[in-house]
Amino acid sequence: MVANMPQEMKSGSAIANRAWRATVMTLFPEMFPGSLGQSLAGKALDEGIWAIEAMDIRSFAEDKHQTVDDTPFGGGAGMVMRADVIDAALKSVAKPKNRPIIYLTPRGKPLDQKRVKELSAEPGVVLLCGRYEGVDDRVINAWDMEEISLGDFVLSGGEPAALSLIDAVVRLLPGVVGNEKTSVEESFEGGLLEYPHYTRPQVWKEREVPEVLLSGHHEKVKVWRQAEAEKITAERRPDLWEKYKVKDGTKLSNIKNFGI
Ligand SMILES: C[S@@+](CC[C@H](N)C(=O)[O-])C[C@H]1O[C@@H](n2cnc3c(N)ncnc32)[C@H](O)[C@@H]1O
Repeated sequence: MVANMPQEMKSGSAIANRAWRATVMTLFPEMFPGSLGQSLAGKALDEGIWAIEAMDIRSFAEDKHQTVDDTPFGGGAGMVMRADVIDAALKSVAKPKNRPIIYLTPRGKPLDQKRVKELSAEPGVVLLCGRYEGVDDRVINAWDMEEISLGDFVLSGGEPAALSLIDAVVRLLPGVVGNEKTSVEESFEGGLLEYPHYTRPQVWKEREVPEVLLSGHHEKVKVWRQAEAEKITAERRPDLWEKYKVKDGTKLSNIKNFGI
């Protein structure tokens, strides 16, 4: 049935078999690829490194009004997305069980770089975007969905979370970010936030670039960056800092060496 077919985002292009593939189940398919059609992700989408299909959940509703939600049992505010409609949508996804099925929700495990990396090694993901008060719990359990949160705040729908998750994964796919070293040195790699960056002009509004970065001494630059990363992490993210210290307490010495 044509109305139930997932909406492939790049018209005319068959989804390449080996491409990392995101299937997004949503009430707002027109939100995709959205920002993912631009810049690095957009180029990689054109090149067939990854593929996206947005599936309109509403097209799986069986009544003439295409109802996807209903009032919650037990009372309370808002509406809940129906299990039977989402189940029908999932059944139409090609081989859904080959990829993690993820429900984006504030009550899920917070997304981190480790999970993003793991997801980039999967053949792809199936993402369920909630609206209203959320989704009937039975369909989450029946499909053994993983629940992932973007953070401790409430969005009006799962779509911005899906766009963010896909963006974070796609930039790790081979061939997407030109300089592979870039992603190795980024925030969270090695358990720390990233050190500060500077570029020309060397003096801007009387603010100078740290002298060590102009020294041309690669080892000193490396140690300074490590010390800055440690300092920023300790100040801003005590949770990450504690884990890092447990992993390798000796690294604390860098801060002392630089008198920070
Ligand atoms: C208005 S929210 C529902 C919030 C829900 N009643 C609660 O208190 O947890 C509607 C949908 O937005 C999505 N959403 C909201 N906040 C999110 C977050 N922090 N991370 C991931 N998805 C989120 C979920 O898919 C959710 O079903």
